[in-house]
Amino acid sequence: MLQIIEKLLSEVENFKAENKEQVEEFRLKYLSKKGELSKIFDEFRMVPNEQKKEIGQKINFLKQTAQAKFEALQKNTASTENDSLGNIDITLPGNPVELGSHHPISIVRNEIIDIFSRIGFTVEEGPEVEDDWHVFSALNFPPEHPARDMQDTFFIEKNPDILLRTHTSSVQTRVMEHTQPPIRSIFPGRVFRNEAISARAHCIFHQVEGLYVDTNVSFADLKQTLLYFAKEMFGNHTQIRLRPSYFPFTEPSAEMDISCSICGGKGCSVCKGTGWLEILGCGMVDPNVLTNCNIDASKYTGFAFGMGVERIAMLKYQVKDIRLFFKNDTRFLKQFEAAK
Ligand code: PHE
Repeated sequence: MLQIIEKLLSEVENFKAENKEQVEEFRLKYLSKKGELSKIFDEFRMVPNEQKKEIGQKINFLKQTAQAKFEALQKNTASTENDSLGNIDITLPGNPVELGSHHPISIVRNEIIDIFSRIGFTVEEGPEVEDDWHVFSALNFPPEHPARDMQDTFFIEKNPDILLRTHTSSVQTRVMEHTQPPIRSIFPGRVFRNEAISARAHCIFHQVEGLYVDTNVSFADLKQTLLYFAKEMFGNHTQIRLRPSYFPFTEPSAEMDISCSICGGKGCSVCKGTGWLEILGCGMVDPNVLTNCNIDASKYTGFAFGMGVERIAMLKYQVKDIRLFFKNDTRFLKQFEAAK
């Protein structure tokens, strides 16, 4: 018996494994239930008592050695299989790593931010879940205004005071509440409206709001700022026109059109033959709004504007269906980085 133990010990010590399969062979041969060590332990029961101590110690030593060897073999093969290029054909082409691209809405939003940053506008953000005050009341919406209606606004848990903002004008309120003029900022963000989804409308979309409040801010400043924006965004040849409009929080209010970037103003299906495309709403901040936000309306004036990012992206890239921006089809989304 001692001889067998010695023989096994030297086998175990000299065992070499180059891969996981051979390590498994080792385990099966020596350490498994039907392996050599198991057999030895079985035979150990037959050993006469006076030899039990000596043989027992040797068997234990054999067992420890085999166990340690097994662990060492496992470690070695794991690291050689990972570290060495021995088994790997380095001439095989690798798995292609697909590079992502920026979403067209991000590209356009970043471009809008760039354009206004160049003339000193900072960027601020506000919450998407808002209260009635910041979205409507502070902005001079009368209590019965239809925009507050369930038809347009998503309310949180049927609480008419907590809602998803329907426009980024809510950030105007927040910024004016905590900053005294001069204020010159833009507010990009997501907005939510309870609308049927179609090629032209979505219940979630993005806006960029602009706000400039200081002494002596005039409508001429607004117009010139927007002309600069239109030229930077759509090309130097772009013309703008302002049509009178109405928003509760601006007075006077206007909507701005740009000359149709597709037909150059001659009239086409995109501009419906008019030569003009509507791209944003704007106006002089209503003094009531300044007062609501603790800004002295006798001292300061301001202008504000708000534009839909999807609308601008659709015009810029000639995308006919707004839903494409939300489908996450990478074949569509990948096209825009280069177009920028
Ligand atoms: N908040 C308006 C809208 O969502 C846009 C707007 C912003 C108009 C600022 C005037 C001034 O349609």
